[in-house]
Amino acid sequence: MNALVRMPGMSPACLAGLLLLSFFAVLEPGRADPPSVMVTICKRAPIETLSPSGGVIGVTEATVGARYTLVSVQGSKVMLQDSSGTRYLIALDCTDCPPPPPPPIPALTNRAPQLAAAPTVTVSNPQPITPGEIWPDDRGKHIQAHGGGIIKVGDTYYWFGEDRSQDNPPGIPVVACYASKDLAHWQFRNQVEKADDPAHLGPGWLLERPKVFYNAGTKRYVMYVHIDDKDYRLANVGVFICNTIDGDYQFVKNFRPLNHESRDIGQFIDDDGSAYLISEGRPLGFHIYKLSDDFMSIDRDMHLFPKEQGGNLEGGALVHYNGLYYVVGSHMTGWNPNPNVYATASNLEGPWSEFKDIAPPEKKTYGSQSTFLLKVTGSKTTSVIFMGDWWKPSAQWDSRYLWMPLEIGDGKLWLPEPKEWTLDAGTGEAQVGSNNSLK
Ligand code: DGJ
Repeated sequence: MNALVRMPGMSPACLAGLLLLSFFAVLEPGRADPPSVMVTICKRAPIETLSPSGGVIGVTEATVGARYTLVSVQGSKVMLQDSSGTRYLIALDCTDCPPPPPPPIPALTNRAPQLAAAPTVTVSNPQPITPGEIWPDDRGKHIQAHGGGIIKVGDTYYWFGEDRSQDNPPGIPVVACYASKDLAHWQFRNQVEKADDPAHLGPGWLLERPKVFYNAGTKRYVMYVHIDDKDYRLANVGVFICNTIDGDYQFVKNFRPLNHESRDIGQFIDDDGSAYLISEGRPLGFHIYKLSDDFMSIDRDMHLFPKEQGGNLEGGALVHYNGLYYVVGSHMTGWNPNPNVYATASNLEGPWSEFKDIAPPEKKTYGSQSTFLLKVTGSKTTSVIFMGDWWKPSAQWDSRYLWMPLEIGDGKLWLPEPKEWTLDAGTGEAQVGSNNSLK
């Protein structure tokens, strides 16, 4: 039988002695109670709940780590008591009990830390990031943050994206939030948006590419999304707000930025904290909009990449690196990959360079589509990570991520062939391995 109870710092022989002592104490009324002995459940196993008269009234699974007062030995079982006085029976076998489990990751909560974020998952050795593979979160479930974006608050990165889990309520687009300190291990925090048609767009309404900004003035988190009817005709942005980063976001409004159609949106926060939306705005082209001071509306159109000059783009992303802005976008081929391109400028208002390929065009961005450019500034260097979605339109819950550190600088940006790689989020150093990760 598996070991079920553990007594800290106690040998099996010693435990047996104590159990015996406790046993006699129970059988000999009138004698003083022995000092109470606490035991800890160390294995998942059935635990029987006893009525006051001693009968079994239910069987559940014991909670690993739960502590009880030892009452007595009952053959091959021990009787335990919790702080409310309820008694239980569970199998006794303490000969090969494993070391105690690590403390659990804090339970999910809507009352998330604000600027001083609670520690999430910490690791000492960098964990490989493998483009194209299932990427499990702390629950072992594939991360659901498609078409996403990342913000850093304190020392914690928060990844928001489309949660396309199969068991989500039908017809309700969901946004999920995950937290990480190393960008490799992600803790699921909350489904931060799962409202039922807040903009009254009818069955099949859409919510895509959520992006969250923190406004230091209002101390509010502001989420922008592409919100649309089932046919993508409305072409609006939607705005949601929350007082905590991973709480339940409340719908505020939807609109067309400066009356322009807007479908895919991207997010950019400049070094001075100013915030921008990148927006696919057919029929004109691709816009970079500056948000107002409170981030609740559009301040102005910084630049339009006209469609006649290669600006027929979506999946927009922007980074400011070594004094130059780099914008990346994908052509418009639905869920199918295409050769993504980039342009550069020393000012967001332009002039911008021509668009160039970010990878060999025949590779079609290695099957992915741009969604975000993440700058990781560490103690030694700065890396820029290309975040792409590898969509699976008929199984969206299984869509994968293609993240790779970019080769970037002096006006050039290049997405290397996807391989397993590691990031030291402290130093900012990215190390690309030798295994091609795409099958
Ligand atoms: C491409 C966009 O980038 C996606 O976000 C999504 O809107 C699909 N088109 C829909 O076909």
